[in-house]
Amino acid sequence: MLKRITVTCFVTLLAAGTVSFAQDGAATYKSKCQMCHGATGMADTPAGKSTKARPFNDPEVMKMSEADLINVTTNGHNKMPAYKGKLTDAQIKDVVAYIKTLQK
Ligand code: HEC
Repeated sequence: MLKRITVTCFVTLLAAGTVSFAQDGAATYKSKCQMCHGATGMADTPAGKSTKARPFNDPEVMKMSEADLINVTTNGHNKMPAYKGKLTDAQIKDVVAYIKTLQK
């Protein structure tokens, strides 16, 4: 009986961990990126237009690899701010994974 409860707890913890991992990228995006890149990644915000951000499904952006996207987020490019030191490598990876979901 006790064993079963322990197993259930463990599975619940694992599931909770997975969910918060997926939400981290989305939460980071909403608080730090959305004002320029837009809620759906279309860069259709005033800040997106004035900084000339492209929609994430632009053919040029679709050609970029995950490593390229991580590199731009880390080191910045033109008006895109660098997030090195502001976000951890893991956070950058999560937020880029979230961007990938916006490209579909
Ligand atoms: C101040 C507005 C602004 C903010 C805030 C911003 N970006 Fe950008 N981002 C840009 C612009 C402008 C570009 C295009 C840069 C260029 O000309 O190559 C860009 C480009 C990118 C690219 C490369 C692909 C592309 O569209 O050219 C990625 C990936 C990216 N941003 C991710 C992020 C992430 C992740 C965040 C939040 C952590 C973020 N950006 C926050 C303005 C912004």
